[in-house]
Amino acid sequence: KRIVLAYSGGLDTSVAVKWLAKEHDYEVVAMAVDVGQGGDFEVIRHRAIAAGAIAVEVIDARSQFANDFVLPTLFANGMYENKYPLVSSLSRPVIAHHLVETAKKYDAVAVAHGCTGKGNDQVRFEVGIRALNPKLEIVAPVRVWGFSRADSIDYAEANSIPIVATKDKPYSIDQNLWGRAIECGEMEDPWAPPPSDVYEMTVRTKSEPSEVVITFDKGKPTAIDHKPMDLVDIIDELNVTFGSYGFGRIDMVENRRVGIKSREVYEAPAALGLIMAHDALEDITLERDLAHEKAKLSHRFSELLYDGLWYSPLREGLSNFMEYTQQYVSGEVRLGLEPNRVFVSGRRSEYSLYDYELATYEKEDAFRHSDAEGFVRIWGLGVETWSRKQVNHD
Ligand code: ARG
Ligand code: SIN
Repeated sequence: KRIVLAYSGGLDTSVAVKWLAKEHDYEVVAMAVDVGQGGDFEVIRHRAIAAGAIAVEVIDARSQFANDFVLPTLFANGMYENKYPLVSSLSRPVIAHHLVETAKKYDAVAVAHGCTGKGNDQVRFEVGIRALNPKLEIVAPVRVWGFSRADSIDYAEANSIPIVATKDKPYSIDQNLWGRAIECGEMEDPWAPPPSDVYEMTVRTKSEPSEVVITFDKGKPTAIDHKPMDLVDIIDELNVTFGSYGFGRIDMVENRRVGIKSREVYEAPAALGLIMAHDALEDITLERDLAHEKAKLSHRFSELLYDGLWYSPLREGLSNFMEYTQQYVSGEVRLGLEPNRVFVSGRRSEYSLYDYELATYEKEDAFRHSDAEGFVRIWGLGVETWSRKQVNHD
């Protein structure tokens, strides 16, 4: 019997290869998906074989991840609890998709992941896999074996699994194009400041103020400083540019799906900058009621993604709505860059609803001031009546 394991090359999934083969008699196919996390996939390939995998699949899913998962989320300005741009929540459904496809290719009866029983990621993998293929069995070795970190290291050593973990590096890190999540260690005390060495993408090396212009076409970023680029390259480049100003850090306590409050530190320079720019372009291109309703649905959309329901009818329906809202979100946004800060300094669009002659206080003013008097009187009629009849004015 065969199993496909979502393999990262880290300690837990390396031990899982051996454990699934040795203790559960599986032929293990290790599958590594490139979602922009960096690292050397040749090293990962060799490590999986050394740990006992019968085959290794390396899948470059960066473009699919950016265009089919990140972009629809950018349309929605998706943030969980108004702070977290859903980094890990977005990669799980792509990996789940490839687990199911790879299982088909290798005629596997089961799939496996390396998540713990306390987190969101197990939820996202398993709910996604069940939505895509309810027949597959799902195994979560880390949830079953009960190893401590030190036990895992001992198991790796005893079974000659080549890993690079040391017993004193306690952080749990998950990274992709859209950002980097860092948890555990000293950060488990929500009052303790994150150690400065946990940061990689947001180490400040620049302080000279500068500007970046981002072009959007129907909500999709298409150019930096008027140079057309594909979405993967835009995100990569903005991670470097914004990160070099020290911008993109998030330190929060969030509500996990499994009922735990958890202290999380993130680095997401491109995600935060692009959401800020996209939102600024929507300020001039979306009609008021559409903008307000979209903001409410964005909250629900983000919650669904966080909770592992990417593959669900409500998410699909909301994605259709979000895409509909993007038809006039085309134009440019200028961002200013300063130490530890990125901010909007201008926006323009050929579909802009901003009307100078309506907004100006100068002589070009075309707003009909006399209409305002009657409008305001009727607008306030209800509360005026309430005040006259029911409020004690003594
Ligand atoms: N708490 C974040 C989330 O649920 C980050 C998860 C990070 N995953 C990890 N394996 N370290 O999206
Ligand atoms: C894990 O526990 O496997 C990582 C954290 C999370 O999924 O939220």
